[in-house]
Amino acid sequence: MKKCLQNVIVRNKTVIVRVDYNVPIKDGKILDDTKIKLTLDTLYYLLSENCKIILLSHLGKVRNASDKRKYTLEPIANHLKTLILKGNVYFSKENYGSDLTQRVKAMLPQDILVLENTRFLDVPNHLESNCDPQLSEFWASQADLFVNDAFGCAHRKHASNYGIALHLPSCIGFLMQKELGMLNRLIIHPIHPFTVIMGGAKIEDKLSLIKSLLPKCDYLLCGGAIANSILKALNFNVGQSLRSDDEKTIKAIQELLIKYKDKFMVPLDAIVSSTYDNKFAQYKLITNILDNDVILDIGSKTLEKYQTAIMQSETIFLNGTVGEYEDEKFANGTKELLNMLEKSGAIVVVGGGDAASSVNNLGYANKFTYTSTGGGATLKYIADEKLVALDAISEEIETL
Ligand code: 3PG
Repeated sequence: MKKCLQNVIVRNKTVIVRVDYNVPIKDGKILDDTKIKLTLDTLYYLLSENCKIILLSHLGKVRNASDKRKYTLEPIANHLKTLILKGNVYFSKENYGSDLTQRVKAMLPQDILVLENTRFLDVPNHLESNCDPQLSEFWASQADLFVNDAFGCAHRKHASNYGIALHLPSCIGFLMQKELGMLNRLIIHPIHPFTVIMGGAKIEDKLSLIKSLLPKCDYLLCGGAIANSILKALNFNVGQSLRSDDEKTIKAIQELLIKYKDKFMVPLDAIVSSTYDNKFAQYKLITNILDNDVILDIGSKTLEKYQTAIMQSETIFLNGTVGEYEDEKFANGTKELLNMLEKSGAIVVVGGGDAASSVNNLGYANKFTYTSTGGGATLKYIADEKLVALDAISEEIETL
């Protein structure tokens, strides 16, 4: 484990904390503040140690000036003010330069200063995303210690999460520790039988994850466009359904299908619509899919088959959804699977943005063992068992 906050002397220090406050926000209103609330343990600990806290986060993808208007962190700083019952929360429009340094110098113990969106520094020169050394050094120069508590973006090598750690004594915060600890315990060393349910759109994005999970799991249950690509690799007609047509990808899938043939489970049937009439949902066996069909959900025979694996499992990892659950006509597969997972009695870990949203939107929030705050980061950590943003933080045995 990386150096942990509780093992570092922080009393009276100025601490720069990277959090992931990339939360859904509409017209300045925060739609889900889970990620903000989950950083409060780290913040309260630092406040109790009489620290001055500088908070860094990105929000959204910032590509131009109009994105800057859309993605200011000010509403998030205001929301944090309502959550923090001790200490004073301030917002700084400046996130770089001498004015910011003056503002930091004027901070009092137990002040929290939320800086403007780190990705504003990506316009025009990608300073944050390219991990600019000068920017990293500047942020590091504002504090005595760096705490990385931003699990959700730890698969990125940016100035605010990786670069600073090159220039300051650094450690990981409580949310980062919880995420890594849970994923280590539940998925990296799972209790068997271990079932992975993999849905979602692009198999290219998930191929390395699938490769790394296959030796570890007992069953891989497939849905969504991932399943379509696998069906295609098995020479089924998937009509106009979303799938990969890339020959290298299809070949890689075929090799995996040979090597792990007892682990793969693919749909037997589907709910399809026609390319020309998206409103029409029809049940079909996979063997009967026609050239114009679009597969949008799994069918009842598939659910029955998947249920056998789910009910035997001790550990289940859910990533992605098996259908277009946002449309009621194609939501049954996703709903039924969640229902089975709830009844399974297994350790159920939900990872990835789409899976987490389906769990929340379909009324299964808090029904499972653990829901990770990460999307890409969760997948990357399971695949590689490491996260690039943490590379510059020393291991626990070394002293700061
Ligand atoms: C997330 O919400 O998944 C993280 O904040 C990462 O966001 P990003 O994909 O924009 O880096």
